Amino acid sequence: MIHLTWLLLIFGIPRVTASYPIWWSLAMGHQYSSVESQPELCSSIPGLVPKQLRFCRNFAEVMPSVVHGLSIAIHECQHQFRGRRWNCTTLNDTLAIFGPVLDRATREAAFVHAIVSVGIAFAVTRGCADGSSTICGCDVMRKGPPGDGWKWGGCSEDVDFGSMVSREFADARENRPDARSAMNRHNHEAGRTSISEHMYLKCKCHGLSGSCEVKTCWFSQPNFRRIGDYMKDKYDSASEMVVEKHRESRGWVETLRPKYTFFKPPTETDLVYYENSPNFCEPNKETGSFGTQDRTCNLTSHGIDGCELLCCGRGHNTRTEKRKEKCHCTFHWCCYVSCQECMRVYDVHTCK
Ligand SMILES: *[C@@H]1O[C@H](CO)[C@@H](O)[C@H](O)[C@H]1NC(C)=O
Ligand SMILES: *[C@@H]1O[C@H](CO)[C@@H](O)[C@H](O)[C@H]1NC(C)=O
Ligand SMILES: *[C@@H]1O[C@H](CO)[C@@H](O)[C@H](O)[C@H]1NC(C)=O
Repeated sequence: MIHLTWLLLIFGIPRVTASYPIWWSLAMGHQYSSVESQPELCSSIPGLVPKQLRFCRNFAEVMPSVVHGLSIAIHECQHQFRGRRWNCTTLNDTLAIFGPVLDRATREAAFVHAIVSVGIAFAVTRGCADGSSTICGCDVMRKGPPGDGWKWGGCSEDVDFGSMVSREFADARENRPDARSAMNRHNHEAGRTSISEHMYLKCKCHGLSGSCEVKTCWFSQPNFRRIGDYMKDKYDSASEMVVEKHRESRGWVETLRPKYTFFKPPTETDLVYYENSPNFCEPNKETGSFGTQDRTCNLTSHGIDGCELLCCGRGHNTRTEKRKEKCHCTFHWCCYVSCQECMRVYDVHTCK
Protein backbone atom coordinates (compact mmCIF):
# COMPACT_ATOMS: atom_id res chain seq x y z
CA MET A 1 0.00 0.00 0.00
CA ILE A 2 2.95 2.29 0.63
CA HIS A 3 3.75 2.62 -3.05
CA LEU A 4 0.15 3.54 -3.88
CA THR A 5 0.07 6.40 -1.39
CA TRP A 6 3.36 7.55 -2.81
CA LEU A 7 2.02 7.49 -6.36
CA LEU A 8 -1.10 9.35 -5.32
CA LEU A 9 1.04 12.09 -3.83
CA ILE A 10 3.08 12.43 -7.01
CA PHE A 11 0.18 12.37 -9.43
CA GLY A 12 -2.06 14.48 -7.25
CA ILE A 13 -5.04 12.15 -7.32
CA PRO A 14 -7.35 12.90 -4.37
CA ARG A 15 -6.53 10.85 -1.32
CA VAL A 16 -8.57 7.65 -1.15
CA THR A 17 -9.16 5.34 1.76
CA ALA A 18 -9.13 2.10 -0.22
CA SER A 19 -7.26 0.73 -3.22
CA TYR A 20 -10.59 0.34 -4.99
CA PRO A 21 -12.98 3.13 -5.94
CA ILE A 22 -14.87 4.68 -3.05
CA TRP A 23 -17.50 6.03 -5.46
CA TRP A 24 -18.81 2.46 -5.41
CA SER A 25 -20.44 3.65 -2.18
CA LEU A 26 -23.03 5.23 -4.50
CA ALA A 27 -24.65 1.81 -4.49
CA MET A 28 -25.40 2.00 -0.77
CA GLY A 29 -27.45 5.17 -0.56
CA HIS A 30 -30.35 6.92 -2.21
CA GLN A 31 -28.99 10.39 -1.61
CA TYR A 32 -27.74 10.69 -5.18
CA SER A 33 -30.90 9.63 -6.99
CA SER A 34 -31.56 13.27 -7.93
CA VAL A 35 -28.17 13.81 -9.61
CA GLU A 36 -30.04 13.47 -12.88
CA SER A 37 -31.89 16.75 -12.32
CA GLN A 38 -29.23 18.39 -10.15
CA PRO A 39 -25.81 17.85 -11.75
CA GLU A 40 -24.25 20.07 -9.08
CA LEU A 41 -24.65 17.12 -6.72
CA CYS A 42 -21.88 15.38 -8.69
CA SER A 43 -19.22 17.19 -6.70
CA SER A 44 -20.51 15.65 -3.48
CA ILE A 45 -20.01 12.09 -4.72
CA PRO A 46 -16.99 10.79 -2.82
CA GLY A 47 -13.78 9.84 -4.58
CA LEU A 48 -14.39 10.99 -8.16
CA VAL A 49 -11.33 11.99 -10.17
CA PRO A 50 -11.71 15.16 -12.31
CA LYS A 51 -12.55 13.19 -15.46
CA GLN A 52 -15.40 11.40 -13.66
CA LEU A 53 -16.68 14.65 -12.23
CA ARG A 54 -16.83 16.17 -15.74
CA PHE A 55 -18.54 13.04 -17.00
CA CYS A 56 -21.10 13.14 -14.20
CA ARG A 57 -21.93 16.80 -14.93
CA ASN A 58 -22.09 16.41 -18.70
CA PHE A 59 -24.03 13.16 -18.74
CA ALA A 60 -25.98 13.49 -15.51
CA GLU A 61 -28.96 11.73 -17.07
CA VAL A 62 -27.12 8.41 -17.35
CA MET A 63 -25.90 8.56 -13.73
CA PRO A 64 -28.99 6.80 -12.30
CA SER A 65 -28.22 3.89 -14.65
CA VAL A 66 -24.58 3.90 -13.50
CA VAL A 67 -25.76 3.63 -9.90
CA HIS A 68 -28.29 0.95 -10.83
CA GLY A 69 -25.48 -0.96 -12.57
CA LEU A 70 -23.42 -0.85 -9.39
CA SER A 71 -26.29 -2.28 -7.35
CA ILE A 72 -27.11 -5.13 -9.71
CA ALA A 73 -23.40 -5.98 -9.79
CA ILE A 74 -23.14 -6.12 -6.00
CA HIS A 75 -26.37 -8.08 -5.75
CA GLU A 76 -25.06 -10.57 -8.32
CA CYS A 77 -21.74 -10.86 -6.49
CA GLN A 78 -23.62 -11.72 -3.29
CA HIS A 79 -25.66 -14.31 -5.15
CA GLN A 80 -22.63 -15.97 -6.77
CA PHE A 81 -20.68 -16.09 -3.49
CA ARG A 82 -23.59 -16.80 -1.14
CA GLY A 83 -22.39 -20.12 0.29
CA ARG A 84 -18.69 -19.28 0.35
CA ARG A 85 -16.34 -18.22 3.11
CA TRP A 86 -16.09 -14.77 1.57
CA ASN A 87 -19.64 -13.94 0.54
CA CYS A 88 -19.27 -10.43 -0.92
CA THR A 89 -20.50 -8.70 2.22
CA THR A 90 -20.83 -4.96 1.91
CA LEU A 91 -20.63 -2.45 4.75
CA ASN A 92 -22.88 0.57 4.87
CA ASP A 93 -21.03 2.54 7.54
CA THR A 94 -17.90 3.25 5.49
CA LEU A 95 -17.12 4.57 2.02
CA ALA A 96 -14.91 1.55 1.42
CA ILE A 97 -17.97 -0.66 1.05
CA PHE A 98 -16.10 -3.97 0.78
CA GLY A 99 -13.80 -3.19 3.70
CA PRO A 100 -10.09 -3.97 3.35
CA VAL A 101 -10.73 -7.29 1.50
CA LEU A 102 -10.41 -5.79 -1.95
CA ASP A 103 -7.29 -3.79 -1.14
CA ARG A 104 -5.27 -6.84 -2.11
CA ALA A 105 -4.99 -7.76 -5.79
CA THR A 106 -6.79 -11.08 -5.33
CA ARG A 107 -9.22 -13.19 -7.37
CA GLU A 108 -12.04 -11.67 -5.35
CA ALA A 109 -10.91 -8.17 -6.33
CA ALA A 110 -10.68 -9.31 -9.96
CA PHE A 111 -14.26 -10.62 -9.84
CA VAL A 112 -15.74 -7.54 -8.19
CA HIS A 113 -14.02 -5.14 -10.58
CA ALA A 114 -15.20 -7.16 -13.58
CA ILE A 115 -18.80 -7.52 -12.39
CA VAL A 116 -19.05 -3.81 -11.52
CA SER A 117 -17.73 -2.72 -14.89
CA VAL A 118 -20.10 -5.06 -16.73
CA GLY A 119 -22.98 -4.12 -14.42
CA ILE A 120 -22.59 -0.46 -15.36
CA ALA A 121 -22.34 -1.23 -19.09
CA PHE A 122 -25.40 -3.50 -18.80
CA ALA A 123 -27.60 -1.08 -16.86
CA VAL A 124 -26.73 1.91 -19.03
CA THR A 125 -27.45 -0.11 -22.18
CA ARG A 126 -30.79 -1.27 -20.77
CA GLY A 127 -31.67 2.27 -19.64
CA CYS A 128 -31.01 3.60 -23.15
CA ALA A 129 -33.23 0.93 -24.72
CA ASP A 130 -36.00 1.71 -22.22
CA GLY A 131 -35.87 5.32 -23.31
CA SER A 132 -34.79 6.70 -19.94
CA SER A 133 -32.25 9.01 -21.51
CA THR A 134 -32.29 11.41 -24.42
CA ILE A 135 -28.62 11.02 -25.34
CA CYS A 136 -28.84 7.35 -26.24
CA GLY A 137 -31.37 4.86 -27.53
CA CYS A 138 -31.49 1.75 -29.66
CA ASP A 139 -28.77 0.37 -31.86
CA VAL A 140 -30.07 1.53 -35.24
CA MET A 141 -27.29 -0.28 -37.10
CA ARG A 142 -28.95 -3.58 -36.20
CA LYS A 143 -31.49 -3.46 -38.95
CA GLY A 144 -30.94 -4.77 -42.40
CA PRO A 145 -32.28 -7.75 -44.23
CA PRO A 146 -34.87 -9.73 -42.30
CA GLY A 147 -34.15 -13.31 -41.35
CA ASP A 148 -36.03 -16.46 -42.20
CA GLY A 149 -39.61 -15.87 -41.08
CA TRP A 150 -38.98 -12.74 -39.06
CA LYS A 151 -38.18 -9.06 -39.46
CA TRP A 152 -36.28 -6.55 -37.39
CA GLY A 153 -38.43 -4.68 -34.90
CA GLY A 154 -38.36 -3.43 -31.37
CA CYS A 155 -35.24 -1.92 -29.90
CA SER A 156 -31.89 -3.59 -30.37
CA GLU A 157 -29.78 -2.79 -27.35
CA ASP A 158 -26.77 -0.56 -27.97
CA VAL A 159 -24.02 -2.31 -26.04
CA ASP A 160 -21.38 -0.04 -27.50
CA PHE A 161 -22.87 2.99 -25.81
CA GLY A 162 -23.18 1.25 -22.42
CA SER A 163 -19.63 -0.08 -22.69
CA MET A 164 -18.36 3.36 -23.61
CA VAL A 165 -19.95 4.85 -20.49
CA SER A 166 -18.47 2.07 -18.36
CA ARG A 167 -15.04 2.62 -19.93
CA GLU A 168 -15.13 6.40 -19.54
CA PHE A 169 -16.52 6.38 -16.02
CA ALA A 170 -15.40 3.17 -14.29
CA ASP A 171 -11.90 3.20 -15.81
CA ALA A 172 -11.24 6.89 -15.31
CA ARG A 173 -8.93 6.41 -12.37
CA GLU A 174 -7.17 3.35 -13.75
CA ASN A 175 -4.44 5.25 -15.55
CA ARG A 176 -1.79 4.86 -12.89
CA PRO A 177 1.46 3.16 -13.91
CA ASP A 178 1.18 0.58 -11.11
CA ALA A 179 0.33 -3.12 -11.25
CA ARG A 180 -3.07 -2.78 -9.59
CA SER A 181 -4.19 -0.31 -12.20
CA ALA A 182 -3.04 -2.68 -14.97
CA MET A 183 -4.98 -5.50 -13.30
CA ASN A 184 -8.13 -3.38 -12.94
CA ARG A 185 -7.99 -2.20 -16.57
CA HIS A 186 -7.72 -5.79 -17.77
CA ASN A 187 -10.53 -7.11 -15.57
CA HIS A 188 -12.86 -4.20 -16.36
CA GLU A 189 -12.47 -4.88 -20.07
CA ALA A 190 -12.88 -8.64 -19.51
CA GLY A 191 -16.17 -7.90 -17.76
CA ARG A 192 -17.47 -5.70 -20.54
CA THR A 193 -16.53 -8.17 -23.27
CA SER A 194 -18.80 -10.74 -21.65
CA ILE A 195 -21.91 -8.79 -22.71
CA SER A 196 -21.18 -8.89 -26.44
CA GLU A 197 -20.49 -12.61 -26.11
CA HIS A 198 -23.97 -13.20 -24.69
CA MET A 199 -26.12 -10.98 -26.89
CA TYR A 200 -28.96 -12.89 -28.49
CA LEU A 201 -31.86 -12.45 -30.85
CA LYS A 202 -35.05 -11.99 -28.87
CA CYS A 203 -38.31 -12.38 -30.77
CA LYS A 204 -41.99 -11.68 -30.31
CA CYS A 205 -44.93 -13.12 -32.19
CA HIS A 206 -47.76 -10.99 -33.49
CA GLY A 207 -50.97 -12.18 -34.99
CA LEU A 208 -54.36 -13.54 -34.05
CA SER A 209 -54.42 -15.34 -30.70
CA GLY A 210 -50.81 -16.28 -30.48
CA SER A 211 -50.40 -17.33 -34.08
CA CYS A 212 -47.03 -16.25 -35.30
CA GLU A 213 -48.00 -14.60 -38.56
CA VAL A 214 -45.54 -11.79 -38.01
CA LYS A 215 -42.44 -12.25 -35.93
CA THR A 216 -40.25 -9.31 -34.97
CA CYS A 217 -36.82 -9.70 -33.45
CA TRP A 218 -34.22 -7.49 -31.86
CA PHE A 219 -30.76 -7.88 -30.44
CA SER A 220 -30.96 -8.19 -26.66
CA GLN A 221 -28.64 -8.43 -23.71
CA PRO A 222 -28.91 -11.68 -21.75
CA ASN A 223 -30.38 -11.96 -18.30
CA PHE A 224 -27.79 -10.49 -15.89
CA ARG A 225 -27.68 -13.84 -14.05
CA ARG A 226 -26.09 -15.40 -17.14
CA ILE A 227 -23.34 -12.79 -17.03
CA GLY A 228 -22.90 -13.49 -13.31
CA ASP A 229 -22.61 -17.25 -13.87
CA TYR A 230 -20.11 -16.66 -16.65
CA MET A 231 -17.98 -14.27 -14.59
CA LYS A 232 -18.04 -16.77 -11.71
CA ASP A 233 -16.51 -19.38 -14.07
CA LYS A 234 -13.91 -16.78 -14.98
CA TYR A 235 -13.22 -16.30 -11.26
CA ASP A 236 -12.65 -20.04 -10.86
CA SER A 237 -10.24 -20.12 -13.79
CA ALA A 238 -8.56 -16.74 -13.17
CA SER A 239 -4.89 -16.46 -14.13
CA GLU A 240 -2.21 -15.73 -11.56
CA MET A 241 0.24 -13.08 -12.72
CA VAL A 242 3.51 -11.60 -11.50
CA VAL A 243 4.45 -7.94 -11.49
CA GLU A 244 7.28 -6.71 -13.70
CA LYS A 245 8.85 -3.29 -13.48
CA HIS A 246 10.12 -1.47 -16.54
CA ARG A 247 11.93 1.80 -16.80
CA GLU A 248 10.22 3.97 -19.40
CA SER A 249 10.63 7.62 -20.36
CA ARG A 250 7.75 8.56 -18.02
CA GLY A 251 9.36 6.65 -15.14
CA TRP A 252 8.81 3.22 -13.64
CA VAL A 253 5.88 1.30 -15.09
CA GLU A 254 4.54 -1.96 -13.72
CA THR A 255 3.06 -4.58 -16.01
CA LEU A 256 1.77 -8.11 -15.47
CA ARG A 257 2.91 -11.37 -16.99
CA PRO A 258 1.60 -14.90 -16.42
CA LYS A 259 3.23 -16.61 -13.45
CA TYR A 260 3.15 -20.06 -15.00
CA THR A 261 4.43 -20.48 -18.54
CA PHE A 262 2.98 -24.00 -18.81
CA PHE A 263 -0.59 -22.72 -18.59
CA LYS A 264 -2.34 -21.05 -21.49
CA PRO A 265 -1.79 -17.28 -21.10
CA PRO A 266 -4.93 -15.30 -20.21
CA THR A 267 -6.97 -13.94 -23.09
CA GLU A 268 -8.77 -10.62 -22.94
CA THR A 269 -11.87 -12.37 -21.55
CA ASP A 270 -10.03 -13.99 -18.61
CA LEU A 271 -9.64 -12.51 -15.15
CA VAL A 272 -6.17 -11.84 -13.75
CA TYR A 273 -4.82 -11.32 -10.21
CA TYR A 274 -1.39 -11.35 -8.55
CA GLU A 275 -1.90 -11.71 -4.80
CA ASN A 276 -3.20 -14.73 -2.93
CA SER A 277 -6.44 -14.53 -1.01
CA PRO A 278 -6.53 -15.03 2.74
CA ASN A 279 -8.42 -18.21 3.71
CA PHE A 280 -11.25 -16.15 5.29
CA CYS A 281 -11.55 -18.69 8.14
CA GLU A 282 -10.88 -16.42 11.10
CA PRO A 283 -11.84 -12.79 11.59
CA ASN A 284 -8.97 -10.46 10.75
CA LYS A 285 -9.28 -6.67 10.72
CA GLU A 286 -6.25 -6.25 8.50
CA THR A 287 -7.37 -8.55 5.68
CA GLY A 288 -11.04 -7.69 6.20
CA SER A 289 -12.00 -11.32 6.75
CA PHE A 290 -15.12 -11.77 8.91
CA GLY A 291 -14.35 -15.39 9.65
CA THR A 292 -17.01 -18.05 9.26
CA GLN A 293 -18.20 -18.48 12.85
CA ASP A 294 -22.02 -18.67 13.03
CA ARG A 295 -22.36 -18.98 9.27
CA THR A 296 -25.02 -21.47 8.15
CA CYS A 297 -23.49 -24.49 6.45
CA ASN A 298 -24.90 -27.37 4.42
CA LEU A 299 -24.39 -30.71 6.17
CA THR A 300 -24.81 -32.84 3.04
CA SER A 301 -22.68 -30.78 0.66
CA HIS A 302 -19.07 -31.72 -0.04
CA GLY A 303 -18.50 -28.35 -1.68
CA ILE A 304 -17.32 -25.04 -0.24
CA ASP A 305 -20.78 -24.46 1.34
CA GLY A 306 -20.51 -27.78 3.20
CA CYS A 307 -19.91 -27.70 6.96
CA GLU A 308 -16.44 -29.24 6.63
CA LEU A 309 -15.00 -26.61 4.28
CA LEU A 310 -17.06 -23.57 5.31
CA CYS A 311 -16.28 -24.11 8.99
CA CYS A 312 -12.59 -24.69 8.21
CA GLY A 313 -12.60 -27.98 10.15
CA ARG A 314 -13.73 -26.35 13.43
CA GLY A 315 -16.98 -28.32 13.44
CA HIS A 316 -20.54 -27.09 13.64
CA ASN A 317 -23.49 -26.65 15.98
CA THR A 318 -26.97 -27.87 15.16
CA ARG A 319 -30.22 -26.37 16.31
CA THR A 320 -33.77 -26.90 15.18
CA GLU A 321 -35.90 -24.21 13.73
CA LYS A 322 -39.66 -24.24 13.26
CA ARG A 323 -41.05 -22.63 10.14
CA LYS A 324 -44.63 -22.10 9.10
CA GLU A 325 -45.40 -23.58 5.71
CA LYS A 326 -48.41 -24.02 3.49
CA CYS A 327 -49.61 -27.62 3.41
CA HIS A 328 -52.57 -29.91 2.59
CA CYS A 329 -53.51 -27.69 -0.30
CA THR A 330 -56.73 -28.55 -2.10
CA PHE A 331 -58.08 -27.35 -5.37
CA HIS A 332 -61.67 -26.12 -5.34
CA TRP A 333 -63.85 -26.12 -8.45
CA CYS A 334 -63.62 -23.42 -9.79
CA CYS A 335 -61.01 -21.84 -9.37
CA TYR A 336 -59.06 -21.47 -6.21
CA VAL A 337 -56.64 -23.34 -3.99
CA SER A 338 -56.89 -23.40 -0.22
CA CYS A 339 -54.13 -24.47 2.09
CA GLN A 340 -53.55 -25.10 5.77
CA GLU A 341 -50.56 -23.85 7.70
CA CYS A 342 -48.25 -26.47 9.17
CA MET A 343 -45.20 -26.18 11.36
CA ARG A 344 -42.19 -27.90 9.91
CA VAL A 345 -39.03 -28.50 11.88
CA TYR A 346 -35.66 -27.97 10.22
CA ASP A 347 -32.13 -28.66 11.38
CA VAL A 348 -29.93 -25.60 11.03
CA HIS A 349 -26.17 -26.10 11.13
CA THR A 350 -23.85 -23.24 11.95
CA CYS A 351 -20.07 -23.09 12.14
CA LYS A 352 -18.31 -23.22 15.51
C1 LIG B 1 -22.20 -13.40 4.71
O1 LIG B 1 -21.17 -13.36 5.66
C2 LIG B 1 -21.41 -12.48 6.73
C3 LIG B 1 -20.15 -12.41 7.58
O2 LIG B 1 -19.68 -13.68 7.96
C4 LIG B 1 -22.64 -12.99 7.51
O3 LIG B 1 -22.91 -12.11 8.58
C5 LIG B 1 -23.83 -13.05 6.57
O4 LIG B 1 -24.94 -13.62 7.22
C6 LIG B 1 -23.50 -13.87 5.35
N1 LIG B 1 -24.59 -13.75 4.39
C7 LIG B 1 -25.17 -14.83 3.86
C8 LIG B 1 -26.25 -14.56 2.88
O5 LIG B 1 -24.80 -15.97 4.12
C1 LIG C 1 -26.87 -0.52 7.54
O1 LIG C 1 -27.36 -1.83 7.36
C2 LIG C 1 -28.00 -2.35 8.50
C3 LIG C 1 -28.33 -3.81 8.24
O2 LIG C 1 -28.70 -4.03 6.93
C4 LIG C 1 -29.24 -1.50 8.78
O3 LIG C 1 -29.90 -1.99 9.93
C5 LIG C 1 -28.81 -0.07 9.00
O4 LIG C 1 -29.95 0.76 9.17
C6 LIG C 1 -28.01 0.46 7.83
N1 LIG C 1 -27.49 1.76 8.11
C7 LIG C 1 -27.56 2.77 7.23
C8 LIG C 1 -26.93 4.05 7.66
O5 LIG C 1 -28.09 2.65 6.13
C1 LIG D 1 -27.12 -28.89 0.40
O1 LIG D 1 -26.28 -29.60 -0.48
C2 LIG D 1 -26.94 -30.60 -1.23
C3 LIG D 1 -25.89 -31.40 -1.97
O2 LIG D 1 -25.03 -30.53 -2.68
C4 LIG D 1 -28.00 -29.95 -2.12
O3 LIG D 1 -28.67 -30.93 -2.87
C5 LIG D 1 -28.97 -29.16 -1.27
O4 LIG D 1 -29.89 -28.47 -2.09
C6 LIG D 1 -28.24 -28.16 -0.38
N1 LIG D 1 -29.18 -27.55 0.54
C7 LIG D 1 -29.31 -26.23 0.66
C8 LIG D 1 -30.30 -25.75 1.66
O5 LIG D 1 -28.66 -25.45 -0.02
